[in-house]
Formats: sequence, structure tokens, C-alpha cells
Amino acid sequence: MSIAGVYHIKGGVGKTTSAVNFAYLSAREERPTLLWDLDPQGSATYYFNLESGLGLSAKKLLKAKTDWESVVQRTAYPLLDVLPADFSYRKLDVVLNRAKSEKDGLRSFLKPLTRRYELIILDCPPGITLLSENIFRAVDFLLVPNIPTTLCLRSYVQVLTFFRQKGLGLEKIIPFFSMVETRKRLHRENVDFFTTKLRRMCRRTIPYLADIERMGLVRQPVPHYLPQSPAAQAFVSLWEELRPRLLMAEA
Ligand SMILES: Nc1ncnc2c1ncn2[C@@H]1O[C@H](COP(=O)(O)OP(=O)(O)OP(=O)(O)O)[C@@H](O)[C@H]1O
Ligand SMILES: [Mg+2]
Repeated sequence: MSIAGVYHIKGGVGKTTSAVNFAYLSAREERPTLLWDLDPQGSATYYFNLESGLGLSAKKLLKAKTDWESVVQRTAYPLLDVLPADFSYRKLDVVLNRAKSEKDGLRSFLKPLTRRYELIILDCPPGITLLSENIFRAVDFLLVPNIPTTLCLRSYVQVLTFFRQKGLGLEKIIPFFSMVETRKRLHRENVDFFTTKLRRMCRRTIPYLADIERMGLVRQPVPHYLPQSPAAQAFVSLWEELRPRLLMAEA
């Protein structure tokens, strides 16, 4: 059992796109998988054709006993469930701050779910807030998609610095490149340099492809609607690299 957040300080780097496709690929391998959409924008919820606000509100989260059956939504795909976003998640910071001790943190809320799912993926909002810190402590792994641009990588370094300052365990962090445009020299150079320099950087990357962008229109994971496409192949290939790292017991 593993909990993996998909996170970056920066917005629009491919967090939700990755979270949705990885969750789908995990469930397709017959692994009970849950995706929790922690972003009030509700994009992951939208991609699965579900409605925001039908899941767990920030307030309900603090209640001693949550009826998980009533808040977890089934998707169109076997073994893949979603905990939909809620607009109240914009206040999740405040709510979690009210939970005094660390044992009341996000991980303890997830405990009952860890018995039902082999992989829980958290689609995280951008920014670096109290919620982010709570997520960093709750997860076993933090998947960090990076567009290979100077500013994105600069923000990634800020995440590493934050982890160091808070003693959060850098080994949780698994960076990878997303939205790579190989026709751009800067992208090529950054990918080459950082995959060589950073031991933890995934070797496989997600290219910038119109078929991936179309997910917003089709509202299905890429390997489901275009299984033979280069776009699907990219997610399958990166997932195969990630899987033994995320699910060590299965490696
Ligand atoms: N590999 C890709 N190729 C082309 N377009 C992509 C790719 N990955 C993501 N996109 C598009 O880029 C936009 C941002 O992607 P996504 O929503 O996954 O980013 P995010 O990091 O979750 O954003 P936010 O910070 O707002 O939550 C979306 O319109 C998505 O369709
Ligand atoms: Mg997102």
C-alpha cells in the first residue's frame, strides 16, 4: 500500500494530467486505486466525468467517523475510485490547522482507506501552503512533474529547500519531466542535463502532445481513448518506471 501525491509549487505543469493517467494505469493492472482530488478547481474530478461537491467536504473531514462508502465515487473503470474535489478545500489549510496534533493530519484521515486501496494518489493544488506541508508529511512519495524550463526547475529547487529546512525526507521526492517539447533547445538541454545530474529524476518523460491536451474534451485517461498512441505510450512507459519505486513490495 502506498500514498503518492502529485505536486508542484507551480501551476499548470501537468499534475492533474499525470495523476489521472497514473491512477487509470494502476487500476488497469488490477490494483484497487483511489484518486483524491484535493484541488478545489476539481479538474481530476471533471476528467472522470464526476461532479465536485459530492465527496468529502473540509468540515466532514474532521468528523471522527467518515462514512467512506457515501463519499467515494466509482468511476467508469474497474477498481478505480475517486474522492471528488470540494470547493471547501480552499479552506483545507485552516481546517487541518485546527486539528492540533500531527496524528490528526491528513495521513490519519486516510488510514481507513489504506485498508481498501493498494495505491492512493493525491492530486494536489499548486502553491506551498499548510495543506502542502500536511500532504508532504502524509505521503510515501511525492511525484513532481517539471516542465523543462528555468523557472519551473527553479521552483522545484524551492520544494527541495523546503523539504531540507523542515527535515521532511527528500527520498520521498520523485521528479519527472512533463510537457517536453523536443523541438525547443532549452527543453532538450534541461532534460539531458538533469536526468544525468539528478539520481532520482525519472529517465522517461512525458512529451507535449495535442492528444494529451485533448483529455479535457474527451474526459477519459489517454491510454483508454487512444491506447496505441505515442501519448498513451509515454504514460505507460513512465508508469512502468515509477511502479517499482512506488510499490516497492511488488517490485
Ligand atoms: N503532456 C502534455 N501535452 C499537452 N498538453 C498538456 C500536457 N500535460 C498537460 N497538458 C495541458 O496543460 C494544461 C495544464 O495541465 P494540468 O491541469 O495537468 O496541470 P496542473 O499542474 O494540474 O495545473 P494546476 O496547477 O492548475 O492544477 C491542461 O490544459 C492540460 O490539458
Ligand atoms: Mg491540477
